[in-house]
Amino acid sequence: MPDDFIPWTKKYLPKTLSDIAGHGKAIEQIRNFISKFKKGKALMLYGSSGGGKTSAVYALAHDLGVELVEVNASDSRNADSINELVGNASKQMSLFFKSKLILVDELEGIAGRQDRGGVQAVQKLIESSTYPIILVVNDPYSEKLKSLRKASVLVEFTERPHADISSFLKKICQKEKVDYDEEALSMIARKSGGDMRAAINDLQSLSETNKKISRTDVEELGDRERTEAIIPALIKVFKTTEPGIALGVFDNVNEDLDKIFLWIDENLPKEYTKPADLARGFEALSRADVFKGRIMRWQYYRFYVYCYDLLSAGIALAKDEKYKTMTEYKPTSRILKLWMASQRNMKKKAISEKIGEKTHTSRKRAMQDTLPYLRAVFRNNKKEGERLSEFLDLDREQIEWLSNQA
Ligand SMILES: Nc1ncnc2c1ncn2[C@@H]1O[C@H](COP(=O)(O)OP(=O)(O)OP(=O)(O)O)[C@@H](O)[C@H]1O
Ligand SMILES: [Mg+2]
Repeated sequence: MPDDFIPWTKKYLPKTLSDIAGHGKAIEQIRNFISKFKKGKALMLYGSSGGGKTSAVYALAHDLGVELVEVNASDSRNADSINELVGNASKQMSLFFKSKLILVDELEGIAGRQDRGGVQAVQKLIESSTYPIILVVNDPYSEKLKSLRKASVLVEFTERPHADISSFLKKICQKEKVDYDEEALSMIARKSGGDMRAAINDLQSLSETNKKISRTDVEELGDRERTEAIIPALIKVFKTTEPGIALGVFDNVNEDLDKIFLWIDENLPKEYTKPADLARGFEALSRADVFKGRIMRWQYYRFYVYCYDLLSAGIALAKDEKYKTMTEYKPTSRILKLWMASQRNMKKKAISEKIGEKTHTSRKRAMQDTLPYLRAVFRNNKKEGERLSEFLDLDREQIEWLSNQA
């Protein structure tokens, strides 16, 4: 990372309310609360992570011209420090009569430490403060926050719609002079699940390695993330002899079964260096492969269970004892790349084959000469696309693929 690296979440941190994308209604509610503030009630702002809660409170304080006193609940070690930090602020009139706004951010951080009386401290603060208090939480309905919730007005920061996020990303691209495909930005937005911070971070990391941000770049980013998820699963399988620990490790790995096979196949010999272990390991792998074949051939989906059991517990139990060596697990870069490319090409090939049949040309010719026109037709003329699909006898997946190639 270069020395002058500045995270875009920081560079584009909203300074005033007009920099905040969306949340108009919630911000109005907060304004209202502040202008009609009465002692004894706080405002509890909630919503999922990365949606702009903290930034919005700062921007609001800026626009109202009030001083913001922040207590980051995760940082303050105990109730005393909260009292000290905010207690004073809440009682004294500010010098120059500048009004104040108190922010207790990430409240869950103190609510978790019950023994320290953090919740009671905040409760007391609410009762005594002459300045409005905003509590920020992710989940207001957790049991720990019950008493504080009762003393608060709830305001929700709803998830940003994808369109909001992608248009925010677009603005950043324009300022950073980054070239992009519209489609790629909306993929990043969708992938973020409403988390603006995640979306901005993805955008920045893609812009570092790509001149122009395209669909494929975003897809590859997803691949990279999945790779990060599979390694802990592999470690569990390779490093345990307890079937219970190994079973189910791939359940949360968002990865194709085929690729899990490739990962194990590549790394098994690196980990299991005793021949007997290795032989048993490959035995489990090949039995899993038999089940996979049956799933594919006969659509026996219940064989998935056996397949995954063999890949997890089967592989784990193949060794007599665990190896103490540290192995760095790697994807089979070569096979994996070929495999992914061939997956991508498979649809192209199948469609070209159908074109070839109808036009009496080779598949290769059809791919080179006719397929590009077919794409253009699908892009520009839906009716004609439908007619051609029928003529070429394309299936639904093939039609979808062609329609998405705009
Ligand atoms: N609505 C928004 N408009 C503009 N930028 C935003 C918005 N939401 C988030 N951001 C950007 O994302 C980053 C994270 O936002 P922020 O810290 O305010 O989120 P949060 O809701 O407080 O998240 P957390 O619950 O994790 O604390 C900010 O630095 C900002 O750059
Ligand atoms: Mg925050």
